[in-house]
Amino acid sequence: MRGAVLVLVAVLVCTVVVCRPASAFIDGLLPNGNFEYGPKATEMKGTVVTGKYAIPRWEISGYVEYIKSGQKQGDMLLVVPEGAFAVRLGNEASIKQRLKVVKGMYYSITFSAARTCAQEERLNISVAPDWGVLPMQTLYSSNGWDSYAWAFQAEYGEVEILIHNPGVEEDPACGPLIDSVAIRALYPPRATNRNLLKNGDFEEGPYIFPNTSWGVLIPPNIEDDHSPLPGWMVESLKAVKYIDSGHFSVPQGTRAIELVAGKESAIAQVARTIPGKTYILSFAVGDASNSCEGSMVVEAFAGRDTIKVPYESKGKGGFKRAILRFVAASTRTRIMFYSTFYTMRSDDFSSLCGPVLDDVRLLSLRKP
Ligand SMILES: *[C@@H]1O[C@H](CO)[C@@H](O)[C@H](O)[C@H]1NC(C)=O
Ligand SMILES: *[C@@H]1O[C@H](CO)[C@@H](O)[C@H](O)[C@H]1NC(C)=O
Repeated sequence: MRGAVLVLVAVLVCTVVVCRPASAFIDGLLPNGNFEYGPKATEMKGTVVTGKYAIPRWEISGYVEYIKSGQKQGDMLLVVPEGAFAVRLGNEASIKQRLKVVKGMYYSITFSAARTCAQEERLNISVAPDWGVLPMQTLYSSNGWDSYAWAFQAEYGEVEILIHNPGVEEDPACGPLIDSVAIRALYPPRATNRNLLKNGDFEEGPYIFPNTSWGVLIPPNIEDDHSPLPGWMVESLKAVKYIDSGHFSVPQGTRAIELVAGKESAIAQVARTIPGKTYILSFAVGDASNSCEGSMVVEAFAGRDTIKVPYESKGKGGFKRAILRFVAASTRTRIMFYSTFYTMRSDDFSSLCGPVLDDVRLLSLRKP
């Protein structure tokens, strides 16, 4: 009994003092975030959901279908990543859910989506006043499903997460499938005297579904103040992939980045530097052990200085370390990485893959 009381006290102290600030929400799926609780038969017409509040916890608008795994669409078999159900958002359709959060905190939303018929599908995800349009035209995983991350800062104690398909296809039944909507509170790390870059080990980032083996895409055109990968910006046209050690080979810690779109996706951060001072940028380059084989090159930039790091991948995991030594030319130095080449998985020629980047550190050299 006494032991139990002590344990209880320890838990309370931990939540108040030692551990992360209490969030209104436990990281993971939103209530009915995988749509396993569905509409009553009376609130459906075929697969189309007719009641606005028919899907528990969600409010829908427009042409929303409730899809069962294994259902056919033409000759395509629809498979669902988590559980047995998902929703499909037709033209201008949306789903939304209200959620209690902590005002001022940063959150990242992760959800899985699959294209169906349209070639250029997009989704607009928003938490007022922020929104982002995520392009889905490039396939990164072979089974059609990808997970996407998007982040926001809560302006209120209660927010509404809205996912909208702005598409206008000829066939209103076309449109992406959505499953597994999750949230994670972000704790943006700071630069320290042991690393002038924030989140250089990529350990802080969006929620990764424990049961999905395709990582999470960090979409392009992400500004650093609202990045699901705190500290980092994703520039240019395509996404980078956030991967976990549960499903991939990761050089250090439990998270890393896979540069899946060649020069079309760059990851960058601006560091404070002192002009004339010498700095060492060090990082790990490897492969994710995902059958991504061949000669890879990661290009690193620090201001105007650059280095090309070749890496021969056998697709079985492994990494090497590299260093770029430079003299800062300004008070702000842009650190950037991309992959020189495109690579496809040897076990699946429709999936883009690439070199892994991890453990990025920037330090000033005491004696130049
Ligand atoms: C995305 O959705 C938000 C919220 O509904 C809206 O304000 C914004 O204009 C939309 N953006 C686009 C490009 O459709
Ligand atoms: C994840 O997969 C395991 C094993 O297949 C299963 O038991 C578990 O229910 C799954 N979890 C979710 C959230 O789908």
